This record gives sequence, C-alpha cells and structure tokens, in this order.
Amino acid sequence: MTTSSRTSLLDQLRQIVGAANVLTTGDLSAWELDWRKRERGRALAVVRPASTIEVATVVKACAAAGVSIVPQGGNTGMVVGSTPDASGTQIVLSLLRMNTVRALDGSNLTITVDAGCVLQTLQEVCEKAGFLFPLSLASEGSCTIGGNLGTNAGGTQVVRYGNTRELCLGLEVVTAQGEIWDGLSGLRKDNTGYDLRHLMIGSEGTLGVITGATMKLYPLPVAQLTAFAAVPSLDAAVQLLGLAHQHLSAGLTGFEVMGKFALSLVTKHFPQQRVPFQEDMAPTLPTTCGSLPPEGAVPCLGRPGAAADAPYCVVLENSDQESEAHARERFERLLEVAMEAGCVLDAVVAESITQARALWHVRESIPLAQAQEGLNIKHDISIAVSRIPEFVRQTDALLQQAYPGARLVNYGHLGDGNLHYNVQAPAGADAEAFLRDDEKGVNAVVYDMVDKFKGSISAEHGVGSLKRDKLEQHKSPVALGMMRAIKQALDPQNTMNPGRVLLIK
Ligand code: FAD
Ligand code: MLT
Ligand code: ZN
Repeated sequence: MTTSSRTSLLDQLRQIVGAANVLTTGDLSAWELDWRKRERGRALAVVRPASTIEVATVVKACAAAGVSIVPQGGNTGMVVGSTPDASGTQIVLSLLRMNTVRALDGSNLTITVDAGCVLQTLQEVCEKAGFLFPLSLASEGSCTIGGNLGTNAGGTQVVRYGNTRELCLGLEVVTAQGEIWDGLSGLRKDNTGYDLRHLMIGSEGTLGVITGATMKLYPLPVAQLTAFAAVPSLDAAVQLLGLAHQHLSAGLTGFEVMGKFALSLVTKHFPQQRVPFQEDMAPTLPTTCGSLPPEGAVPCLGRPGAAADAPYCVVLENSDQESEAHARERFERLLEVAMEAGCVLDAVVAESITQARALWHVRESIPLAQAQEGLNIKHDISIAVSRIPEFVRQTDALLQQAYPGARLVNYGHLGDGNLHYNVQAPAGADAEAFLRDDEKGVNAVVYDMVDKFKGSISAEHGVGSLKRDKLEQHKSPVALGMMRAIKQALDPQNTMNPGRVLLIK
C-alpha cells in the first residue's frame, strides 16, 4: 500500500466514524496484544464505529482499498483471533461503541442487541426485566455478544442451555463487500434454505462482521443450588454426572471439574480465596467438618478429613422452577446417593447466593491463576464424556514420559465433555523456553490422543491463528475443502480476518 493510498483511506475512515474514533498513535496494546499475551500485532488503525451503517461504510472503504479487517469485541479470545498481525496493514474494527439493547420482547422470549454489548450488561438487563440470559463465562465483564457469536462460546451453563449458537435466533451482519444482511427475525422456525446464521456463528470474523443479534431468553429460576464436591477420581466424577442427570434431569445447569493442581494455583495466586478441601489452607466457605459450626457456616456432608487427598473436585448446580425447599431436598438426596455409591468423598452445599458465588468464583479463577503462574500451553478439547477418564490416564502417562515434571492443569466443563487439559512448564523451569522448545511436541501428543479418542481439538475457544495449522492436520480434507469454498464465495478478496481459521494461499 502506498503512503498516499494509506493516507486517503485513513481520511475516509475519519470522515465515517469521526477522527477521535480512528486510533493510529499512542499505546494501542489493548487492541494489539491478545489476552494470553501470546502475540503482539501492529494495526494500521483501530477504528471504532457507532452504528451498523458506519460498519458497512468502513468495510466498503477497506474493501475498495484492499485492506483487511480484524473484527474485535472484548479481546478476551484464547486463540489469537482478534488482534492484528505484525504487518501494520490491518484495520482493527472494534465493536465496543455499539452497545445498545435494541429491544426486549417478553412474549417472544427474545432480546435484540448490538454486537458490542458486553455479556454481563446483557445478563443484567435481562435479569432486571425478570428473564434469564444463560450464557455465562468468567470473561463476561469484558467479552461481547459479537465475540461470543464469533467464537460460538460455551461456558458453564452449556449442559442445560447449549452453546451461544443454541441461544441465537437471528443476526445482522455486514458482509465482506459492505452490504447489510438483516436476519434479526427472532423466529424459532425458518426453513428457507441454507442457514446463514449458523454459517456466521463460530466463523471468527472470517466471513463478515456481526453487528446485531437476537438472542433467546428463559424464565429466571426460582431456586438455584450449588455444591462443591470432592471426588476420588475422574471416573467417579463421570459417575456423579450420570447420577446428577438422573436425579436432577433438566434442572442440572452446571457441572465443572477441577484437578487438585489447578485448585492449588488458585490458592497460591489468590490467597484471599478459600478453596474447600485443600490441605494447608482454611476452607473457602467457613465449612464445619469436625468442629462446631460458626455462624453462617456450611456443614460438610461427609466425615471430617474424607476429602483431604481428593484428586478432583466438582462444582455442580441445580436450577429449578419449584420451591427452594423441594429443590434442596432433591439436591441433597443426590449427594447422599453419590456418597453411598462412593463417587463423592465430601461436599458442601451453598446456603446463600453469596456462598454460591464464592464457590463458582473458585472455578472461574483457574484461568487467571494459571495466567499468573506464567505462560502455558492451553488445550480446549472435547471427548465423549464416558471416555474422558481413559483419555486423561493415557495422555498423562505419555506426557510425563516425554516431559518429566511438566505440570498438568486439568479442569473444565465435564458436563459437556470439554476439558482444558493445559500443560505448564515444570516447577522452576523457564516457561518461555518450555513453550519455544516443547509446545509443538506437547501439542502433538495431546492432539494425536484426541484423534485416537475421536474428539475435537477446539471445543469452545475456536481456531484463530494459534490452531490454524492444527486444523489442517486434524480436520478431514473434505470438510476443509467445503470450508475453503464457503470462504471463497463470501470473501473472495480474503480481507475478513485473513490468516485465521483457514490459511488461504
Ligand atoms: P474477541 O476476543 O474480541 O474476538 C474473538 C473472535 O471473534 C475473533 O476472531 C474476532 O475477530 C471475532 N469477533 C469478535 N467480534 C466479532 C463480531 N462482531 N463479528 C464477527 N466476528 C467477531 N470462552 C468460552 O467459550 N468459554 C469459557 O468458559 C471462557 N472463559 C473465559 C475466561 C476468561 C478469564 C477469559 C479471558 C476468556 C474466556 N473465554 C471463554 C474466551 C473468550 O472470552 C470467548 O471466546 C469470548 O466469546 C470472546 O469474546 P470477545 O468479545 O472478547 O471476542
Ligand atoms: C474456562 O473454562 O475457564 C475458559 O474456557 C478459559 C480457559 O480455559 O482458560
Ligand atoms: Zn472453558
């Protein structure tokens, strides 16, 4: 790109969104550095439109100049998909100024929002109006609904409500040519040919820019119960999940597993948090195993000390439309049955919303604690739930053989068969050197095992640029061919987030 065409494009962009919303100088790291600090890119400019029309006009101007666009929401993505490459030739299109709630239709159980609406804001607006918007991620204070749709985010409520895809009834999209597709129907039934909405969801900004969305609402639950349970093995956690499905049916809204080492990182980096059943620390909630209950304490259900060496803990949640008393009775019965069956060693059940939040907070702090521990190799895999324990046994053994001392930070959404089977450098080792020298080898071990167990190398985080080459190795050539054909048809100039998901030569 010549200097004069660059200057001319920047002038046009300033006219479209206002000079204050075209950033080219100063500290742009909030837009150029990915959340995990894996890669730092350089943008030609960060452009911040305030409306769909502005997005469409920006896209048209960039398409005419042959300049590529990286759509960005909260920049909390895990796979380096929302930051520019190092060329200094890409526009970061930040949707954060587009944050209006357009309409809430209580009878249709839908809400229509701008794509830059922050997830937590959306949850709060719905709750105030007496509805539940169930998507829930630890990044909800920063991530946007456009980013959630772009990545088809999962989170902690998928076991009951599905991924972001299942929560979406309509989209508004600016195409790679700068046209506006208004698909904000809010219809639950529409079989009029190819489902363009589902093509856009999970496409990580490579097919168009999502500018608005119509999302499903649910009634707010009357009763919500949360337990933190220590289990003797991953097999036991899977057995507990089966019992939870049987006893709670559709009331089961969360089922998360956390390895002992993952929990120890929370205790290490957030000592103010008290994690139940971890040795060498006070329990998180004031639990009362073996002592007189202090006020507001939550009694453990098992015998004192039963959970001291538990290799895994589980957070499980039950949401119900019936009375708190009935729901609690059923939930505690589940835990009793699980203890009798030997798949739960001990458990605490939160007795207030504050206590429930504290238990969830422990689980949600794991990614932050792991980031504090240093650079790491993150995996986001899915395997049939029934095969997860065997997968972990075999893969742990292979990794320990090849990389003695590597620390396995294993946690995730067991209810959905989705593990964050992460690998941290051995204690005291140089994390940067570990990643440089061993990331390829570690990934090869893990992803070959994922193939062996017929799983997926990306369950909920997407592909971005971090896993693009892995996709080439692990997805069928027929599927890759169809994906390339779609990309070529919708974005023939390859200006929409190029280099992400697919490599187009
Ligand atoms: P960004 O990071 O800005 O973008 C992500 C991708 O979507 C990029 O490819 C980008 O180009 C594209 N994109 C963004 N906006 C648009 C748009 N309007 N139109 C088209 N494409 C767009 N993810 C989970 O799935 N489950 C979890 O439980 C979870 N927990 C997390 C916890 C923490 C602490 C953190 C930091 C992240 C977590 N994530 C999780 C990852 C991340 O929050 C999600 O991927 C989220 O959906 C990204 O939203 P965002 O607005 O930050 O998108
Ligand atoms: C989570 O489940 O905590 C998220 O997907 C983030 C992560 O894996 O780090
Ligand atoms: Zn996750």
